[in-house]
Amino acid sequence: MKSFERHLVAGFVALITLAAVVPALSMSRPPLAQEPTIGDKPNDVSIFMRAKLGHSQLVMEGLALADYDLVARGAHDLALASQASSWEVLQTEDYARQSREFRRACESLRSAAKDKNLDGAALAWMEVTLKCIQCHKYVRDVGTGN
Ligand code: HEC
Repeated sequence: MKSFERHLVAGFVALITLAAVVPALSMSRPPLAQEPTIGDKPNDVSIFMRAKLGHSQLVMEGLALADYDLVARGAHDLALASQASSWEVLQTEDYARQSREFRRACESLRSAAKDKNLDGAALAWMEVTLKCIQCHKYVRDVGTGN
């Protein structure tokens, strides 16, 4: 092999390695500022919440491709997940309200998807993600006593 070609191959290998390693590195940090500490089994909560990210990805993919079945499935999985017991990390009325509002947003997402209403679904999805963020903010504030 000529040395130019060898460099080309080496460059390619480096690029592919980078492409594989960089996302893996950025994924290894939880998006929350703190490690999960609330609840009896923090690891269960962690695994469970990671699954929510997976459902969210389904919804995003569905919205991007106007694949309404995918959106409806992701919304349904999210709503179902929010009824599971591992979701009930805090025993407060505020937390219960956050969960209810989250479920309601998931339901409107699902019904917009069933009506094949892309704009409605996109809007409902923004509402769902807002609820993710609001609840996490609430949990953080409670955790730090702020
Ligand atoms: C009703 C409250 C609530 C809603 C809504 C909510 N979460 Fe969470 N989430 C939590 C709690 C509680 C934790 C654990 C935080 C802790 O223990 O510090 C958590 C943690 C997480 C984590 C971190 C898991 C880890 O690795 O430790 C991810 C990721 C996450 N949630 C994703 C989502 C996504 C995506 C949504 C919306 C689609 C969402 N959550 C909506 C309550 C909620």
